[in-house]
Amino acid sequence: MPVITCIDDLKKLHKRRTPKMFYDYAESGSYTEQTFRENTTDFQQLRLRQKVAVDMSGRSTATTMAGFPVSMPVALAPVGLTGMQRADGEIKAARAAAKFGVPFTLSTMSICSIEDVAAHSSAPFWFQLYVMRDEDFVDRIIQRAKDAKCSALVLTLDLQILGQRHKDLKNGLSAPPKLTVPVMLDLATKWRWGLEMLATKRRFFGNIVGHAKGVGDASSLMSWTAEQFDPQLDWGKIGRIRDKWGGKLILKGVLDEDDARRAAEFGADAIIVSNHGGRQLDGALSAIKMLPRIVDAVGDKVEVWMDSGIRSGQDVLKALALGAKGTMIGRSYIYGLGAMGEAGVTKALEVIRKELDISMALCGEKNVKDLGRHNLMIPRIFRAISSKATNLLKKICKFLPKEFVCRAGVFAVCPRVGRSKAA
Ligand code: GLV
Repeated sequence: MPVITCIDDLKKLHKRRTPKMFYDYAESGSYTEQTFRENTTDFQQLRLRQKVAVDMSGRSTATTMAGFPVSMPVALAPVGLTGMQRADGEIKAARAAAKFGVPFTLSTMSICSIEDVAAHSSAPFWFQLYVMRDEDFVDRIIQRAKDAKCSALVLTLDLQILGQRHKDLKNGLSAPPKLTVPVMLDLATKWRWGLEMLATKRRFFGNIVGHAKGVGDASSLMSWTAEQFDPQLDWGKIGRIRDKWGGKLILKGVLDEDDARRAAEFGADAIIVSNHGGRQLDGALSAIKMLPRIVDAVGDKVEVWMDSGIRSGQDVLKALALGAKGTMIGRSYIYGLGAMGEAGVTKALEVIRKELDISMALCGEKNVKDLGRHNLMIPRIFRAISSKATNLLKKICKFLPKEFVCRAGVFAVCPRVGRSKAA
């Protein structure tokens, strides 16, 4: 049994034990992968403030996310094809999360179906919805989530069209994998994965196959997305889904202050600042860089969470200190799942909680709810410009020639000013 001390240890084991096609699926961003990389490296630009001689007994990482009690503010994010990282992967992850006291979110593009996960896990989970063109399918899947007693709907807004991930095309990603010669050679070294897969019947998109009509190639995420996802998703359609669902609604994939304000007015229970793990708009700013701007834009009108790039408890601490009330991890638990199944997901959660708890103590804090910007040294690029300052800058810029605005670097300080000037 290898000694696991950090998330990176799980990642190495995941790579060794999982077919290349699925490891690559998890470990990629779109196009040049700039945003994917910066999601993690930008965390390193934020530094923690050490405090000494502070009573650090009686610490707690427990809090609530959208009213749900959690043992730490870290939910498992929806991840497509989780049941291909390890047989019955969604069930294993849901069980680990339930025992740990954190929420699990099931993706629409999961291998195990909503009903299957509900039948095999002990706690209610959240369901993540992709909006399809087929309204009837959307209505039925919402009803299935209600019947399975899912306690919140996580509506993803940033993937109505798929950002290209080069590796998936090169690997011929599909679920189940097509047994080409390179795939078989790869599988020969991943015998444990293969044996477990042979022993389960859950090898297809469980929420889709048998539930959707007129599906072309249901084994391919890429063709399914192109054919079925609704490119016309707008706030009107989001409203229809909210009414149909009628329960807690979390909007995922917000990366812009105006969108965040809109989501807050709309009455979401929480919004998730996210760029889909760098898998969609390559070139967008990292989620952690956008977080303080969005927190400042919405104030306390809506709970703000973040995902994309969290690989440690210190990262969770930084997100909370910048104002997030909760976080989500995707790859960090997928590494654990691919490495060691359910025990690996538990391990990932344990690693993150321990790192969060110890780092919090060394920052002189006893409770995650007390974390704030006073715990950080924040580089200027992270600083949000308040809406008052933004409006003032906008007014000033109206009287300046465009070239001057750009040359003076106002564009760099506040992209919104540059945009409104150009419009
Ligand atoms: C789906 O959620 C993906 O990012 O592949």
